[in-house]
Amino acid sequence: MLIKRFERKEELACHAAELILNEVAERPDAVLGLATGSTPIGIYEKMVERYRRGGISFRNVTTFNLDEYVGLPATHEQSYARYMIGQLFGHTDFDPTRTHIPNGMAADLTAECAAYDALLRKHPVDLQLLGLGHNGHIGFNEPDHALIGGTHVVDLKPATRAANARFFNNPSEVPTQAITMGIGSILKAKAILLVVTGADKADIVRESLAGPITTACPASLLQTHANVTVLLDRDAGRKLTDVIDNELLAHNQC
Ligand code: F6R
Repeated sequence: MLIKRFERKEELACHAAELILNEVAERPDAVLGLATGSTPIGIYEKMVERYRRGGISFRNVTTFNLDEYVGLPATHEQSYARYMIGQLFGHTDFDPTRTHIPNGMAADLTAECAAYDALLRKHPVDLQLLGLGHNGHIGFNEPDHALIGGTHVVDLKPATRAANARFFNNPSEVPTQAITMGIGSILKAKAILLVVTGADKADIVRESLAGPITTACPASLLQTHANVTVLLDRDAGRKLTDVIDNELLAHNQC
C-alpha cells in the first residue's frame, strides 16, 4: 500500500485526477470505478478542467459507480446519478451508454443487483476510486459481523444517514437503504485509489490502514489488496505519521 500525504486537499485532488487521467491516457477504453460524496468533487473538477484544455477523451471509458440510494429517481437532486452528471459526466464526453450506476428505483432490486454484477464481470474495473466513511465504510458496505461480496441492498446505519443529512433539506429525507457494490467486487479492481480528507477522519484512517483487518471496519480489508494507493490531506493523515512514506508532498503542477 502506497500512502501519500498532501499539505492541501487541492494538491490531493490534483494528484488523484492525474492518476485517473494517466490511466485513461494509457488505456482509452479503461474501466473506472467511481465514487460520489464530497471527497471526489475536487478530483472531478480537475478532470473537467483537464478535459476542457483538450487532448483527453473519455468517450471509450466505461464507468461503474459504487452505489445509489434506494427510492430516489435519477432526476432527484441528491441521487448519485444526478451528482455524476453535475460533477463529471455532464461536462465531459463520457458516453452515457458506458456509464453505469445502480438503479435505486428498480422494481426488482435483487435482479438489479445481479444485473450490475453481471456487467462488472464483463467489464473488470481497472481503477477503483474510493472515499471513506467515518465508520470505515467503503461504497455503502457498512461495518457488520459479515460482509457481502457482490452488489446488494444495504440498510444504511444511522451514523451514515446523519453524515449525509447535510445534503438533504430534512434529515428524514435521507433514504434508509442503498444499493452498493460489495466488498468482493471492490477488491477485484486491478488498482484502488482511496482518497480521504479532513481531521474528522484521522481516527478512521488509522484504524483502516494500520489497524486489524476486520469486518467491523470494512476499509481495513483494503490492506489485503496488492495495489492500493491512498491519498490523504494533512489533517486526515495526522495520526498516521509513523507509517507514511511521503510526508506532505507538494504537488507543483496544480
Ligand atoms: C459514495 C461512497 C461513500 C463515500 C463516503 C465518504 O459513493 O461510496 O463510501 O465515499 O461516505 O463520503 P464523503 O466523501 O462525503 O465524506
